[in-house]
Amino acid sequence: MTEKVAGQELSSASLVQREAQRLREEFQKLYGQEARIFRAPGRVNLIGEHTDYNEGYVMPVAMDLYTWVAAAPRKDAHVRVFSQNLQERAEMDLQDLKLQVQRHWSAYVLGVAASLRISGAEIGGADLLVQGKVPMGAGLSSSASVEVAAGYALLESSGLSRSPVELAKICQRAENEFAGARCGIMDQMIACCGRANYALLLDCRTLGFRLLPLFADTQFVVCNSMVKHDHAAGEYNARRADCETATRILAEQMPGVRALRDESLADLHRYAPLLPEVVYRRSRHVISENARVLAAREALERGDPESFGRVMRESHRSLKEDYEVSSAELDLLVEIAGEIAGVYGSRMTGGGFGGCTISLVRSEVVEEFQSAVARGYQRSTGRKPDIYIVRASDGMREILE
Ligand code: GLA
Repeated sequence: MTEKVAGQELSSASLVQREAQRLREEFQKLYGQEARIFRAPGRVNLIGEHTDYNEGYVMPVAMDLYTWVAAAPRKDAHVRVFSQNLQERAEMDLQDLKLQVQRHWSAYVLGVAASLRISGAEIGGADLLVQGKVPMGAGLSSSASVEVAAGYALLESSGLSRSPVELAKICQRAENEFAGARCGIMDQMIACCGRANYALLLDCRTLGFRLLPLFADTQFVVCNSMVKHDHAAGEYNARRADCETATRILAEQMPGVRALRDESLADLHRYAPLLPEVVYRRSRHVISENARVLAAREALERGDPESFGRVMRESHRSLKEDYEVSSAELDLLVEIAGEIAGVYGSRMTGGGFGGCTISLVRSEVVEEFQSAVARGYQRSTGRKPDIYIVRASDGMREILE
C-alpha cells in the first residue's frame, strides 16, 4: 500500500522490503555480490537549537526519510563507494588515512571509515552503495544519516559493533574533521538512537537521553522553505566562536563554567558589561533555549500542547532576534502558520539560514494547514514548499530479508 502525503511516501513493511530488494539487485549489478542492507534516518528538531555544542539540551525526532546503504566486505583494505544520487564513485585505502578536509559527498562516508579506524575499530575493506532519500540542504540532517548508515554498515560488514552513542561520536568526529563542519552531536545521536513514536530528550553534556512519547491528537509538520543560503556553514562556525568567547569571559568570573550550559540568565545579566553586545545576545539565546527545552519536556509530559507551542514561538523569536540565524523565508512560514487556527506553535528548525520550519498542529486541521501554508508561501515567494507530516521513526537499522 502506497500512500502519499505531499510528496512523502508512507512506508509499510512490504514497501521497506521492496526498497531493500531493489538495492540488493542494484548492488549485485554494480559489484557482482550479495549485500546486506542498512539505513539511518534524517531528523527534525522539535526544540533546542544551537544548544548541542554548548553542552545543553535538544529534543529531536527521527523522521521516516532515510539514507540506505548496501554493503559487502572486501578481502583487501579498500573502501569503495558508489552514490546512486550523484552517480559517482569514490575510494580509499584504509592503510593510508591521510584524508584531507574536503567538502565532497564522499567525505561523509570515507571520513567515517577513517574515523572508525582512528577510534580503534579495525574495520576491513568494503564495497558500498549509498542511496539518500533525505532531502539535501533542507536542514533535515541528510549528512548525519549518511554517516550513521555508512558507519553502521562498515562495522557490521567487519563483524564489529559499537554502542549507538559511540558510533554517534565517531560520526560527529568524521563530520568535524573530514567534512569540515563543526557540528554538534544532536544529528548523529538521533540517527543512532531515535525510536518510533518518541522524541529524544538529549543532554549533550552527558549524552544521557530519555525517550518522550509525543502528544495525542496533534501532529508535528515540517515545511521546507526550499531555500538554503550559501553563507550557512560560515555563519554556523561564527556562532560557535561567539559562544566560545562568552564561555571564556564568563569562566574568568565564575570558575567551574565549562560551557554556556552552566550559566543562568541572572549570571549573564550580572556580567553583561564584560561581553560584546552581540556575544551577550548569542548567550541569551542559548541559555534561554536550554530552559525552553526543559519547559517543552514538562509540557509533553503533562500533555499540554498549548505550552509546548508557546515555547516554540519564543524559540523562533530568540533564534531570529538574538541568534540571528533565521531568514525571510523561514519567518514568513512561521508567520503564515501562526495565522491558522489550530496551530499551537511554529519555529525554524535546524541550523538556520534556510531549510525548514516545524509546527505543532491539531490533527484535524493538518490538511487545511498544508494547503494554507502552500498557498500563502507560494503567493509571496513563487516557491512551492515541501510539507512533511512527522512520523517519529526508529534510528539506524539493518533491514533483514
Ligand atoms: C546543525 C548541527 C547540529 C546543531 C543544529 C542547530 O543541524 O549539525 O549539531 O547544532 O545545527 O541546533
